[in-house]
Amino acid sequence: MDYRCYAKKIAIVGMGNVGSAFAYALMLRRLATDIVLIDLDLRRAEGEALDLRHGLPLVGPMEVYAGSYADCADADMVVITAGANQKPGQTRLELLQQNAGIAADIVRNVLAAGGRPVILMTTNPVDVLTRVALDVAVPLGLPPGRVLGSGTVLDSSRFRHRLAKAIGADPRGVHASVLGEHGDSELCVWSRANVSGIPVDAVLRARGLEPDAAFKAQMADDVRRAAYEIINRKGFTSTAIGVALCRIVEAVLNDQKSILTVSTDAEGHYGLPRVCLSLPCLVGADGVEDVIDAPLAPEEQAALARSGQVLFESLKNLL
Ligand SMILES: NC(=O)c1ccc[n+]([C@@H]2O[C@H](COP(=O)([O-])OP(=O)(O)OC[C@H]3O[C@@H](n4cnc5c(N)ncnc54)[C@H](O)[C@@H]3O)[C@@H](O)[C@H]2O)c1
Repeated sequence: MDYRCYAKKIAIVGMGNVGSAFAYALMLRRLATDIVLIDLDLRRAEGEALDLRHGLPLVGPMEVYAGSYADCADADMVVITAGANQKPGQTRLELLQQNAGIAADIVRNVLAAGGRPVILMTTNPVDVLTRVALDVAVPLGLPPGRVLGSGTVLDSSRFRHRLAKAIGADPRGVHASVLGEHGDSELCVWSRANVSGIPVDAVLRARGLEPDAAFKAQMADDVRRAAYEIINRKGFTSTAIGVALCRIVEAVLNDQKSILTVSTDAEGHYGLPRVCLSLPCLVGADGVEDVIDAPLAPEEQAALARSGQVLFESLKNLL
């Protein structure tokens, strides 16, 4: 069978640490047949494309090339990883002003090419920039579900990893999520966490651990601080976010209807204001196709409301 008959095209805007780690993971996962690399620095995009292409004979048939916004016209997805990087000690919200203008320009350029791609925002502060992207894209005719942010997909993976290590179990069976802001106000959802259907508290106790408030606070802190720990050592994070982006892309390109904690318009859900943040979303070919409203424990609902308020305040800085 001709591999072009199921062609799927992805454009990546921003070929820095995150964009190149994502492109590499995407190539190895073979989720797309065409990968277009776009960056202000064209030579950097060309260098990445050449480097990746030399692996293709060992991976499989695929087109990987440096391009421009015109190449977004027939892209199924555009993943935005362009912008300033988080510096040691710098909070994500401090990146706000710097990256909002860049994000809005990129979305306008992508849609000016004439396509209707699903746009996946990664640049931080990702929830605020997802809101910025939505506010640019929707008036230009893109349905709101086709704009989403990577949100806490990575944080949820960190939470699951941390739990799996504590329990000493296969992380794939650990189902747990982080909701809210991808950042300091995010919340680990203990009330829904389970290991292969068994409530996580019961599994922890069975493994000799006491899931008391101190244990849970420590774990939530580890998850929240994970990015800072990595940035303090290697200067940036890239590899796991590249894998997380692949997971979201997989759900969209294969119309998997996966429930993922991507960042979406929260208005009308969980009593939240007009912000984007991570909620359990059904993700398929049309991007966010539904938001799953299901009761949280009262303290989790309150924490989600606080996270919504943090984002609402930071959006005011853009006005
Ligand atoms: N959402 C997450 O979970 C997550 C995780 C890690 C990093 N990030 C964020 O991803 C972003 C990128 O991080 P990085 O380490 O790759 O940064 P980087 O500095 O290595 O790369 C950024 C790239 O964007 C390009 N760029 C800048 N402005 C552009 C524009 N207008 N058009 C096209 N390209 C442009 C730069 O030339 C550079 O190649 C940062 O905002 C970072 O905070 C998000």
